[in-house]
Amino acid sequence: MAAFTLSASSTVVAKTSFKAQNSKISQAKFGCSIKGLAGAKPLALKKAAVTSMSAAASEDVPDMGKRTVMNLLLVGALGLPGTSLLGSYAYFFVPPSAGGGGGGSPAKDANGNEVKIAPWLETHQAGDRSLTQGLKGDATYLVVKDDGSSIENYGVNAVCTHLGCVVPWNAAENKFMCPCHGSQYNFQGKVVRGPAPLSLALAHADISETDVVVFSTWTETDFRTGLDPWWS
Ligand code: FES
Repeated sequence: MAAFTLSASSTVVAKTSFKAQNSKISQAKFGCSIKGLAGAKPLALKKAAVTSMSAAASEDVPDMGKRTVMNLLLVGALGLPGTSLLGSYAYFFVPPSAGGGGGGSPAKDANGNEVKIAPWLETHQAGDRSLTQGLKGDATYLVVKDDGSSIENYGVNAVCTHLGCVVPWNAAENKFMCPCHGSQYNFQGKVVRGPAPLSLALAHADISETDVVVFSTWTETDFRTGLDPWWS
């Protein structure tokens, strides 16, 4: 028992001595005591670090004037393409015009020349129905009145309402007769036999101050059927 006690005591002494030596080594190595480090107020150090970071950050943030200018530039940069896209989107819903900038579109002959009424009547007899280039480039018949004095105030679109063949005028039958599937239309273009489901479209045919024949969109009631025009 005595030997054990002695041994334990010597261990304690040895440990205490080791601690003391360690403490001395630490003091010698870092040049200060542990107490000294504890008294260095770490909170104050943290505050100083935060203050330093804040100062650095505030130097990176532009002032209000610069931010306003940057915001305006950003809005402008995004606004221009955005407006362009919206404009294109809105234009999608605008119905197509009849062409001719609102004043109609001049009728053109086979050579692409504008049709003038006087020379046309010299070469086209009473009751004639000849093709011209009409609205949107559609083949359109000009109709010379039965007395030959002028043209009717309507043109007849030559595009068959069945599947789109150009319908020839048959003077002997006094009809427009489609060669594709046999549809027939009367002398004014009203459908009289299928399979075409609708009459040929109409266009206004007027004479301008310069004697040019001008087509424009027919939006009024179809005088042949008493119905609203299906084409406008
Ligand atoms: S395209 Fe004219 S009848 Fe079929």
